[in-house]
Amino acid sequence: MDIARVKHVCGLYPDLEGVTAPQRLIAAGDVDAIVIATPVKSHYPLAKASLLAGKHTFVEKPMATSSEECEELIDIAERNGLVLAVDHTFLYSAPVRKIVEIVQAGDLGEIRYINSRRLNLGLFQKDVNVAWDLAPHDISIILHILGEFPVAINCQGNAHVTPQVEDVTNMSLFFPHKRFATIQSSWLEPRKIRDMTIVGSRRMIVYDDLQTHEKIRIYDVRVDRPPHYDTFAEFQYSYHYGDSYIPHIQQEEPLKMECQHFIDCIGQGTAPETDGRQGLELVRILEAASRSLKANGAPVTFSKSRDVMSFAEPEAREFAPEAVSA
Ligand SMILES: NC(=O)c1ccc[n+]([C@@H]2O[C@H](COP(=O)([O-])OP(=O)(O)OC[C@H]3O[C@@H](n4cnc5c(N)ncnc54)[C@H](O)[C@@H]3O)[C@@H](O)[C@H]2O)c1
Repeated sequence: MDIARVKHVCGLYPDLEGVTAPQRLIAAGDVDAIVIATPVKSHYPLAKASLLAGKHTFVEKPMATSSEECEELIDIAERNGLVLAVDHTFLYSAPVRKIVEIVQAGDLGEIRYINSRRLNLGLFQKDVNVAWDLAPHDISIILHILGEFPVAINCQGNAHVTPQVEDVTNMSLFFPHKRFATIQSSWLEPRKIRDMTIVGSRRMIVYDDLQTHEKIRIYDVRVDRPPHYDTFAEFQYSYHYGDSYIPHIQQEEPLKMECQHFIDCIGQGTAPETDGRQGLELVRILEAASRSLKANGAPVTFSKSRDVMSFAEPEAREFAPEAVSA
């Protein structure tokens, strides 16, 4: 919609035709697929118009501003046999694929917790808070690594600069079997930080996305309790300090891989790895985070049909797996 940007892009790619009205693109008969990379509030109306016009559609994260909107988009795509993909970029990145491979091979043992930080100064968004802007990356990676939906979530934060738009948030996701993940998101941090620690019972991984070459480091460290002891003197934790190593990763541009995958799915009539349902799961978590934020960090549990607010006491925060609904 910004004519200066349209001119700039058309200058870089002279074969492209630039338009400022999305409807012209949506109505074009020679266009098979549309990518929607606009502010979050416009994802739903643009994606809906695109799908209703029979176009395969690729939507930026987060897919929409509510789970109802996501469900409607999924329904239109399914009824019309169209590919609906959502940009969860990091699931196409080589380091995240490597981490998932290591976890699935059982090298880390049981995953105990994941801690993720995505911090920097700006870029302030006006239509969504920092959790909706930055945490989708962390949430999509964490769900992919753990392979399941959380049973509950809580989120705390504050709006310091723009009223009502939180610029700092701390989110916790609780999974079955006492596993949990914490996500810190900020637009108010002096340093740019993009890191994730995955703590397993046998090994641990530190993933620093800002490193050029050594993005993943695997630590062969753990702590064991003695299997049994008779006196307090016999009780000793055993700390294991082994080597740390850096697996080789073939760098590829995730967005390029993802775009190619979208095109392949259209050609083969298959569902994308990051489809509308994954977009919906992520938006359900963000909605629950917003409800928790409004309730000063009270936990929100997930039920089958919709999220249910629960004000559990902190010490009673043991979430039964049967409460889960993905
Ligand atoms: N996956 C990632 O790594 C990643 C990174 C950055 C941004 N994003 C996502 O990309 C989207 C855009 O973010 P951005 O930082 O590029 O925003 P931006 O504001 O820089 O750019 C948005 C573009 O959309 C256009 N636009 C605005 N309203 C429109 C409308 N109603 N119809 C058509 N065009 C419209 C604007 O003219 C502008 O060119 C957001 O959903 C954001 O979450 C994803």
